[in-house]
Amino acid sequence: MKFKKLFSVATAGLLSVSLLSACGSGSNASGDSEAKSVSMRLAHNQSEEHPIHTSLTEFSKIAGEGAVEVEIFPNGQLGAERDVIELVQSGTLDMAKVSASALEAFNENYSIFSLPYVFQSKEHYHNVMDNSESVQEIFQSTKDDGFVAIGWYDGGQRSIYTADKKVESPADLNGMKIRVQESPTSIAMIEAMGGSPTPMAFGEVYTSLQQGVIDGAESNETALTSNKHGEVSKAYSYTEHQYVPDVLIVSADKWDGLSEEQQQAITDAAEQSSESHKEVWANAIEEAITAAEEMGVTFYTIDKAPFIDASAPLHEEYQAKNEANKKYFEDFQSYAN
Ligand code: GCU
Repeated sequence: MKFKKLFSVATAGLLSVSLLSACGSGSNASGDSEAKSVSMRLAHNQSEEHPIHTSLTEFSKIAGEGAVEVEIFPNGQLGAERDVIELVQSGTLDMAKVSASALEAFNENYSIFSLPYVFQSKEHYHNVMDNSESVQEIFQSTKDDGFVAIGWYDGGQRSIYTADKKVESPADLNGMKIRVQESPTSIAMIEAMGGSPTPMAFGEVYTSLQQGVIDGAESNETALTSNKHGEVSKAYSYTEHQYVPDVLIVSADKWDGLSEEQQQAITDAAEQSSESHKEVWANAIEEAITAAEEMGVTFYTIDKAPFIDASAPLHEEYQAKNEANKKYFEDFQSYAN
């Protein structure tokens, strides 16, 4: 608690100092217009070695060419995902890269990204994220919540891992506490699969696994290596239940205060870095699997059908909730194949 308080004070100090140092823009004394520049602070919760940091660095480089300076704060140093979303909402922080699952607690429209097996393949997932108007609608739908999303990055496929138990069927999850992201749909997913969901921030997962507070977790393979979960979890079972995109969000006030050129520079940088991230990500996953095996992790390919069946009622419930959900769901499915 005490640490958290000190941390918040330090964070607030850091942010206000940075805000004071933000570049101005406009015309010079003789009336000639200067190249407009603006600086933005972007937070995320992964290390500098993680593939998302590589691609956010690329984003920052490209945005810089368009006179938008982006400074990246990695390692969750400005807080967990929930904290940084709140900072962006209040305009204290300009940008953050967070999981679409974390955004569900702020706007229900994001729940579709956590629906298990809503995407049938990587191609389907990329196709929807790159081309669906529903995605753009969801990205723009949070203006009143204080932020908008301007791009996405591949966050891979999520599967369940435990200390040493292979998870082959929903029955294996009976009585097991599985950490999920702080997303109502992810909680409902583990319940539907027969386990006990335990929502918590990503940064707490390692210690919780180590101390037996939880029996397992679910994420992509980089969690085993980059976040060291493979030190305390040796069985990774390919349930492949979600493809959850990482999303780049910007404070709505900050966004509205930018010129069209600046907005364009940011959108272009997000699009280009999202595209190059696909390969960065695919390579990183291959490397993570090899490195995790060297840590003693075993990867189990399993029959996913019982998990797909157990999750099916969630698709029905999601669509029955309202017309918008039904429309989003049908639109997403129209991109399969
Ligand atoms: C992924 C995602 C992170 C998220 C994490 C989690 O790594 O990219 O943004 O925090 O999953 O499981 O919480």
